[in-house]
Amino acid sequence: MTEKPTEQPTWGVGPFEGDPSKHPDFEKFDPELLAEGDTRNVVDYYRYWSMEAIVADLDSKRHGFHVAIENWQHDLNIGSIVRTANAFLAKEVHIIGNRRWNRRGAMVTDRYQHVTHHPDVESFIKYIGELPIIAIDNVPGCQKLEEYSPPKECVFLFGQEGPGLSQAALDSASAVLEISQFGSTRSINASAAAAITMHSWVTKHVFS
Ligand SMILES: C[S@@+](CC[C@H](N)C(=O)[O-])C[C@H]1O[C@@H](n2cnc3c(N)ncnc32)[C@H](O)[C@@H]1O
Repeated sequence: MTEKPTEQPTWGVGPFEGDPSKHPDFEKFDPELLAEGDTRNVVDYYRYWSMEAIVADLDSKRHGFHVAIENWQHDLNIGSIVRTANAFLAKEVHIIGNRRWNRRGAMVTDRYQHVTHHPDVESFIKYIGELPIIAIDNVPGCQKLEEYSPPKECVFLFGQEGPGLSQAALDSASAVLEISQFGSTRSINASAAAAITMHSWVTKHVFS
């Protein structure tokens, strides 16, 4: 029988051991983290790096897709969408509607992600410019995400729990895609839909 772990798993590192000035990443290090240790929710590659250095490194390799979500009723999915956008290295996250959103689900990942607010769909479209907007919702006339080849540079636009995408948002899109479902529920959670969509972009553009 496999032995069960007796302690909660931990991550992070204690104070830096040795002379940090001899480390090749020294310029990127944060003096406070070197002295006190680093238990932030970041991959080990970024241990002891200042937040600014991490953001600059991420900016140098971000992917071509953006993520946008309508926020007319303070949708609780937004934090989770921001976290997934960080994990899959989205170029930028756009919140359309209310400026306020619940950051708890983001688990501090929003500090490393460019998040831009737009008061309405019109100003979002203006900001996005020529970038194709791909709406993700299961509405009549939509195509299947599984059969669609997303462009390398695009914006995936998601609706909120309850109403889904507004008509103005649907009208702004060059394509509307549904994620195929097979059970009885009308829809999946918006943050689950966002994770599936981002991963399908990564599968297409990073792994094939
Ligand atoms: C809970 S859904 C609500 C609307 C949905 N159209 C309905 O008929 O119930 C909220 C958002 O999650 C995303 N979503 C949920 N299920 C989806 C699916 N099967 N395909 C595409 N998007 C989906 C969409 O962005 C949608 O606007």
